Amino acid sequence: MEFDSACIHRVKIVIIVKFSAGVGMKGVILAGGLGTRLRPLTKVTNKHLLPVFNKPMIYYPLETLVDAGITDIMIVTGGSDAGDFLRLLGNGKQFGLEQINYAYQEGEGGIAEALSHAEYFADQELLCVILGDNLVEKSIRPYVEDFERIGKGAKILLKEVEDPQRFGVPELNGKRVIRIEEKPAVPKSCYAVTGIYMYDSEVFDIVKTLKPSNRGELEITDVNNAYIERNLMTYDVLDGWWTDAGTFDSLLKASNLVAETERKLGRGR
Ligand code: DAU
Repeated sequence: MEFDSACIHRVKIVIIVKFSAGVGMKGVILAGGLGTRLRPLTKVTNKHLLPVFNKPMIYYPLETLVDAGITDIMIVTGGSDAGDFLRLLGNGKQFGLEQINYAYQEGEGGIAEALSHAEYFADQELLCVILGDNLVEKSIRPYVEDFERIGKGAKILLKEVEDPQRFGVPELNGKRVIRIEEKPAVPKSCYAVTGIYMYDSEVFDIVKTLKPSNRGELEITDVNNAYIERNLMTYDVLDGWWTDAGTFDSLLKASNLVAETERKLGRGR
């Protein structure tokens, strides 16, 4: 086959556009719950609207998804301050988005219950779910792209921590996750399951089978264990720092980590 030089030029342009385009997955940020561990900070506002260094907490998971190339995003929130998310974020123009979808979770039925509100939005597509109080240093794009390549099942992202008993903790056997325990007294590894999860559309059928845990919530750990039992779970260890921000200590830690990163990058003053 022969190409003239103009044709070759056009081919190059097409390739460049393809690689800089976003990924096809949809994103869901779970920002409901009562934030009881942060009272009185959360008495009159939603936890995810509190400041982390120089931005409201919700900005960070939103930027994490956008940076991963995900532009079709839903925020699930609840409580009496849900309207504040609209006032703060609007259609997401400042994040380069054309629109943001919103859903309302009544009460505090758990992370998996909050996710169930995204079923209609997900429309059978692959999902990247991030908890509204989770912050990361580096891009999650490589993991998102890997999950897109796999195209089914679930993927979790792990991070080594000093206090695994505060989190979901995996028992690992090489590249396989054997089981996850939620806040175990005696953790089976030093990894936390971070609040960044990737699922295929089966996730909504799994959520429908769940029973409330001892703390009265539909647990995301039960969803992940269902994928593990089906042999459809993969994991990666997250590069860079990761933290949640749902306790006084972790909220302070999050602000300090962001401040330090911003200073290193010569920003945030
Ligand atoms: O941060 C990672 C950890 O998050 C995981 O290691 C655990 O396996 C997972 O259960 C979760 O643990 P937490 O106890 O930290 O979850 P928490 O109840 O603080 O909720 C975290 C976020 O999930 C919260 O910022 C908003 C969302 N959420 C939570 C509940 C209970 C909802 O949207 N609705 C809810 O009803």
